[in-house]
Amino acid sequence: MYEKQIDQIINKYGNEKGILIQVLLDAQHEFGWIPKEAIKRISERLKIPYSQIFRVASFYTAISLKPVGRHLVRVCVGTACYVRGAPRILDSVENKLKIKPGETTNDGKFSLETVNCLGCCALGPVIEIDGKYYGKLNSSKLETILSNCD
Ligand code: FES
Repeated sequence: MYEKQIDQIINKYGNEKGILIQVLLDAQHEFGWIPKEAIKRISERLKIPYSQIFRVASFYTAISLKPVGRHLVRVCVGTACYVRGAPRILDSVENKLKIKPGETTNDGKFSLETVNCLGCCALGPVIEIDGKYYGKLNSSKLETILSNCD
């Protein structure tokens, strides 16, 4: 299923050497994550062992080896947000979405992550959804924000 797209990505680079990372990043961009079948095809085409590709892919935070939801929710649990109630916000997100950090909802709508600082500590507690920041959060604000994600 992923063979055709992987072939197209690799063909773009012709016979260039050392393209593994670029191929992985392109595949991440194409699929939103990198499935095992895609790694298998990359392994066949680049003649690099599957386990080696898996290790490289696991190392880069920009690459996900698990399906990612349509909306990525990142809850800041850094010190400034923590003292302003981040644990409660994280609990509320977990309860509402019924997932833990690192997981994706069964319907593929949301993925949840925690981060250590989003760089706007004065607004804490803060979450980021799809690149947009929401600060000074409380549970009811959070409920509205999540409900507005389609
Ligand atoms: S600690 Fe949360 S934004 Fe900095």
